[in-house]
Amino acid sequence: MCPAGTSRRCPFFFLFHLSKGDARCRSLLSEQDCFLLIQMRVLVIYESTMGRTKKMAETICEGVESAGPECRLVEASDFDGVVEECAVAIGSSTRMKKTLPRVRQILAELPEVDGLPAAAFGSYGWSGEAPDIIAEHLKNSGAALIDESPLKVKDHPYGRDLDSCRELGIALAKKCSPES
Ligand SMILES: Cc1cc2nc3c(=O)[nH]c(=O)nc-3n(C[C@H](O)[C@H](O)[C@H](O)COP(=O)(O)O)c2cc1C
Repeated sequence: MCPAGTSRRCPFFFLFHLSKGDARCRSLLSEQDCFLLIQMRVLVIYESTMGRTKKMAETICEGVESAGPECRLVEASDFDGVVEECAVAIGSSTRMKKTLPRVRQILAELPEVDGLPAAAFGSYGWSGEAPDIIAEHLKNSGAALIDESPLKVKDHPYGRDLDSCRELGIALAKKCSPES
């Protein structure tokens, strides 16, 4: 069984993270009727209207995979509500000072995540509130933000922006290492 105290809420949606020092395990938690699969994989969820935040998400995943772990890249409308990964990044562009609607819904349903390594990102045009909103939700849910400042890119990501996306992917991957 997983060590005591590592289970999380799970009826529709759960996020799971084994904290430092806990043994990694696969376990059927019968009391929650919930299968926990602990994987060395990073989840990147994004919502994008013109492909800019999507490009950021893809490049974050490139960074993750360059460092070893798998990356599950999911468009927000395809998100099934289950997070079994060791770290997560959520991205949205800004529209009318808010996140896009699917990401807003995911954030509204975010349970306690207790120490899950996490990051927020997104492309913006002038004010860029969405990544801050995502970061705030993650923080309020107990996630351990990789960086206090979310990764924001004005308009289309090029050159250095893409390097920053790769670096974020590598930082997320490092959090999945058993030694981290
Ligand atoms: C209807 C509309 C509203 C927008 N509102 C904002 C806004 O409030 N603040 C901002 O920084 N950018 C705003 N933008 C700009 C987008 O965030 C920007 O174009 C972004 O690069 C789109 O990225 P995406 O392709 O990932 O959706 C808006 C764009 C549109 C079309």
